[in-house]
Amino acid sequence: MSKIEVLQTGPYDTHDEKKLNEIFTMHRFFDVDNKEVFLERHGASIKGIATRGDLGASRSLIESLPNLEIISIYGVGYDAVNLEAARDHNVTVTNTPDVLTKDCADLAVAMMLAQSRGVIGGHHWVVNGNWSQKGMYPLMRRAHGKRVGILGLGRIGYEVARRLAGFDMEIFYSARNPRDVDANWTFVADPVELAKKSDILFVTLAASAETRHIVNQEVLEALGPEGMLINVSRAANIDENALLDALEIGTIGSAAIDVFEGEPDINPRFLKLDNVLLQPHQASGTVETRKAMGDLVLNNLLAHFDGREVITPVL
Ligand code: 8YV
Repeated sequence: MSKIEVLQTGPYDTHDEKKLNEIFTMHRFFDVDNKEVFLERHGASIKGIATRGDLGASRSLIESLPNLEIISIYGVGYDAVNLEAARDHNVTVTNTPDVLTKDCADLAVAMMLAQSRGVIGGHHWVVNGNWSQKGMYPLMRRAHGKRVGILGLGRIGYEVARRLAGFDMEIFYSARNPRDVDANWTFVADPVELAKKSDILFVTLAASAETRHIVNQEVLEALGPEGMLINVSRAANIDENALLDALEIGTIGSAAIDVFEGEPDINPRFLKLDNVLLQPHQASGTVETRKAMGDLVLNNLLAHFDGREVITPVL
């Protein structure tokens, strides 16, 4: 029996690609030079898309695959998939929630600690010989005991807050509604009010049209010149130009960012700043989690093509 054909929009780890290749005919779309010609030739035989949270699937891609049945996302975020187009064409969409939650929270906290304490600068201080030539490293800011805001207490935000409680931090959070969480955590619905209460503001919101640029100039002003912004969600949740302005003129103190507009070709203004910690969209990037994500991508495809319920449906 011939294998089911799946369009792959970007590379995965070797472990994940191996399994997918054993079961399906995987078309490495990202390696194809003339995508239009490829789609004309193969579009009708493709029944699945295996994509990533950052790559998604556009309406035009969905509509160029007339027999498409499922889009399986390697990632929890589905904002880059045109869900309306998927719905219009009766295409199932799945993602990989839960398996990556704790890694994303770990990296968010690591970014906070690294940025507060100058961990990367300290490393360079040693390596560049400044320690022996100039002496002690400039004093940094304490992390424990600070007031933190979690903008979006979903799965990842909750795990961030749980970790921060261990640093004796005062926790404020926003969500659609107050959540049944630790009684010491305070619900603050309005992002500006949340930023006002925070020394460090974590953005852990699932991105959607409603959350676009939710962190705007007003929120940044409320966070203030000593404030730190950390984003492990999606770039679109922040007005990036307003953030760059704020970092350049000192409206906020610093930022630690894992997701960018147009990544991986990020705005070069970021590269000139010395008050940022920049990460290459790697919050879920551990061997253990990426394996679990790859297995879920595969198992969702298998479930669908075997006629079973998919495991983690978005649509
Ligand atoms: C990426 C993500 O999918 O979970 C998400 O939504 O953006 C990430 O996990 C991952 O970096 C692979 O591109």
